Amino acid sequence: MAKENILFEMTRENLETGLRGVPVGYCVTSSVDPHKGLAYVGRPISEIYSWDPLQAIYLLYFGEEGSKEQLSKFQQEIAKRSQCKDETLHGIESLPRAGHPMDLFAAAILIAGIYELNGNYREDCLNVIAKIPQIAAAVINHHAGWGKTPPSNPGLGYMENFTHLLQMPHIDRAKLAPIFKLFNVIHFDHNGGNLSAFVGKAVASGLAHMYSSLASSLAALSGPRHGRANQDCLEFVQEVLEAVGSDATEDDIARFIRERLNNHKLVFGFGHAVLRVEDPRATVCYEYAKKHFPDHPLIKIALLLRSEGPKILSENPKITNPFPNIDAITGSLLMAAGFTYPDYYTVLFGLSRLVGIAIQIVYERMEARGGKGVPIMRPLYLYKSRR
Ligand code: MLT
Repeated sequence: MAKENILFEMTRENLETGLRGVPVGYCVTSSVDPHKGLAYVGRPISEIYSWDPLQAIYLLYFGEEGSKEQLSKFQQEIAKRSQCKDETLHGIESLPRAGHPMDLFAAAILIAGIYELNGNYREDCLNVIAKIPQIAAAVINHHAGWGKTPPSNPGLGYMENFTHLLQMPHIDRAKLAPIFKLFNVIHFDHNGGNLSAFVGKAVASGLAHMYSSLASSLAALSGPRHGRANQDCLEFVQEVLEAVGSDATEDDIARFIRERLNNHKLVFGFGHAVLRVEDPRATVCYEYAKKHFPDHPLIKIALLLRSEGPKILSENPKITNPFPNIDAITGSLLMAAGFTYPDYYTVLFGLSRLVGIAIQIVYERMEARGGKGVPIMRPLYLYKSRR
C-alpha cells in the first residue's frame, strides 16, 4: 500500500482506548483541529458564533453559505415543518416525570419517530431540525411542571421560538434568547467522532430510521463524560464559589485547586479528547460573560478558574491539555443569564447537537461512497480469555 494512504498504524496499544485518533470515515460538516478547534465547513467557530442559528444550519446542511434569498427560502421551509403533531406532544406529556430530563428527551424523540416519521433520511433530517425546538421545550415544560407547550411560532426566529415555547415562570425572553442562540450555534457539531455523533451514525448504519438513531445519540449525550459534563462543571464552579466566596483572589483559587488535586479529586472543565488549547467555543463564551455579566459571582469564579487552572494543571507532565473546555463556562453563563435550571443544560446541548448529527446521518446514508452509503458498522474485537 502506498505510504501516503496509511492514515494510522494500529497497534495493540491502541486497543481499548476508545478508538482515540483512529480514522473511520469522512465528516462533511465540521472539523476539530487540536490547536485551532472547531470549524463548520472550514469556517472557524470564531467567525460563526454570532450568526443566526438557521444561517449556521444552512451552512452545515448545504455545505455552503446561503445568499439572502436562499436563507429566506430555507427559513420558510423550516417554519412550515416546525409544528409537531398533537399526538407527539401528548405522548411527551404522558411520559413519567421522574428521572433525568435527558431520559425523557430520548424517549420524546422516539415518540416523535412514531408520529412524525417520513422514512427518507433527508426529509426526516429537515423535520427534526424544524421540530426539535418544540420537542425540547415540551420535554422541559413537562418535566419541570411548567404546563402545556404552546403552538410553535417560527416567525419569531429559530431560538426565539424555542424561548417563546419555554413556559418557565417569570421568564425574561429578551435576556435569554441571545444566550440560547449563542449556545445553540456553538454546539451544533463537533466533527464525526464525538460519542453522540458516532453512536447515531452507527445505529443508522443498520438502517434504523432517523429518530431512533437520534434517540441513541441522546442516550450517548446524557453521560457525564459527554453532554452532561456541562451540568457537572457548573456544580463544580458552585462548589468553588461556596468554598472561597465571591471576592476570592487568584491565590485562593490556586490553593483550592491544589488542595483538590492533593486529595485526588477531579478538577472539572479542563481538557478535551481532541483539543490541545483552550476550546475556542469557550473563548467566545468567556468574552460574552465578561462583557455582559462581569459581576456575577459564578462568572467571577469561572474566570479565575480559567486563568489559574491551566497554570497548575500544566505542572503535571501527564496532562496533555490543561486548558478549559466548553463546559467550563456554559453552565455559569446560563445561570448568569437567568436560566437557573442546570438539569436542562444537557437538553439544550442535545437540542443543538442533534442538528449536526442528523446532517451527518444524511451524508453517511445517502451520499457517502457515491450514494451507496457506509455499510453497517462492524469493527473487529480480538478474542481474549479472562482466565
Ligand atoms: C464536544 O462538543 O466537545 C464533544 O462532543 C466532545 C468531543 O468532541 O468528543
